Amino acid sequence: MSKIAVTGGAGFIGSHTVIELYRAGFEPIIIDDFSNSEISVLQGIENIIGTAVSCYDADCNNQQVMDTIFAHEKNITGIIHFAAFKAVGESVQQPVKYYRNNLNSLLVMMEMMGKYNVPHLVFSSSCTVYGQPEVLPVNEQSPILPAQSPYGSTKQLCEQMIEQMVKAGKPLKAISLRYFNPIGAHPSGHIGELPIGTPGNLVPFITQTAAGLRPMITVFGNDYDTADGTCVRDYIHVVDLAKAHVKALELLDRTHDSQYYDVFNVGTGAGNTVLEVIKTFEIVTGRKLNYKIGPRRAGDIEKIYAEVDKARDVLRWQSGLTLRDALKDAWNWQQKLQSKAETAQVPS
Ligand code: WQD
Repeated sequence: MSKIAVTGGAGFIGSHTVIELYRAGFEPIIIDDFSNSEISVLQGIENIIGTAVSCYDADCNNQQVMDTIFAHEKNITGIIHFAAFKAVGESVQQPVKYYRNNLNSLLVMMEMMGKYNVPHLVFSSSCTVYGQPEVLPVNEQSPILPAQSPYGSTKQLCEQMIEQMVKAGKPLKAISLRYFNPIGAHPSGHIGELPIGTPGNLVPFITQTAAGLRPMITVFGNDYDTADGTCVRDYIHVVDLAKAHVKALELLDRTHDSQYYDVFNVGTGAGNTVLEVIKTFEIVTGRKLNYKIGPRRAGDIEKIYAEVDKARDVLRWQSGLTLRDALKDAWNWQQKLQSKAETAQVPS
C-alpha cells in the first residue's frame, strides 16, 4: 500500500481524511503534535476503520524528528500537509507564531520530500487566499487579493513556496486544495470537530448552544449586502472535503510530468447566509436556537462561495453531501461528545 504521511492527521479535517485514505487503499501515517487535537481521535479512527493507524506524536517543525520518521518509514509516496495554526482572529494577535509555525512546518516537509524522494504533496490551503472577491462565484483564476489576516497570508505564501519549489526543477508534483468552510462530522459519530475552548467557527458554536453549553449565539452583523443581511459562506461537509484529498493523490499518481502544480477550489458551489444555517439547523434537529444580532466581526468578508467546475472536471471530485447532512452529523457528534462527558463524570 502507498504510504501517505498526514501531518495534522489527528485534527478535524486530517482525521476524516485518514479514514478516506484507508478506505481508498492507502496506508496513512499520522504525524501530529496534538497541540490542537486529542489522543482520543485515534480511537475514534480505529472504531471506524477497525484497525489502528500509525501515529507519531511529533511537531513538524522539528527537523531532526522528521528526519528520523522519514528515514524509518521507508517509501513514503506522498505527504498531505494539514499541520498549521488556523484561527484567523488569533493570527491577528500573534502573527509571528503563525508565520513561524505555518511556513516553517511546510519548509521542513519540503526538505523531507527532497531528501527522501517523496514525489507527491497535497497542501491544505483555504479560500481565505481570495480575500473578498469582486466577482462570485470565485474560481481558481480569480485574483489573489492582499490577505486580510496573517493566517490568510501564510496560506498565500505557502502556495507560492510550493509553486516555486516545483519550478526549481526537482521531481515534485503538488496540489493545493483551497477549502471553503468545512463543517459537520463523520456520520458514525466517532470523530468530529473538537474546538478547544470557545469555538471561533459558526457550526461548533451552534451545536454547543443547542446542547446548552452556551447561552446563545451572536450573529456577527446583519447589515451586509446579502439576502438577509448576514454573511454568505460555502459550507462543505468535512467527509466530502476529505474525499477530495484522495482524488488529489490519485490525480498526482496519473500525472506523468515530473514537475506539476495546480490548485483547486473545494466547496459545494453554493452559498448560505448565517441565518440560513441557523434556520436549517433548527429544522434538521428540531432544536430552537437562541441567538441575537451583534456587531460585525473584524476581518469577516461579506460573501464568498466557490466555482467548482475545475474540481469536477480535472480532480474528478464534487461534493455530494448537503448543508442539512452536515448539520445533522455535527449535532449527532455534539450529542456523542456530551454523553461521553457525562459518562466520564459518573463516579465509578
Ligand atoms: C462563518 C460565518 C461569521 C461565529 C474561517 C477561516 C477559513 C477556515 C474556516 C480554517 C462568518 C459568522 C461565526 C459566530 C457568527 N479556517 N459567525 N457567529 O471566518 O468564514 O472562515 O474558518 O480552515 O479559512 O477564514 O468561518 O465559521 O468563523 O464564520 O455570526 O459565533 O459565521 O461572521 O460570517 P470563516 P466562521
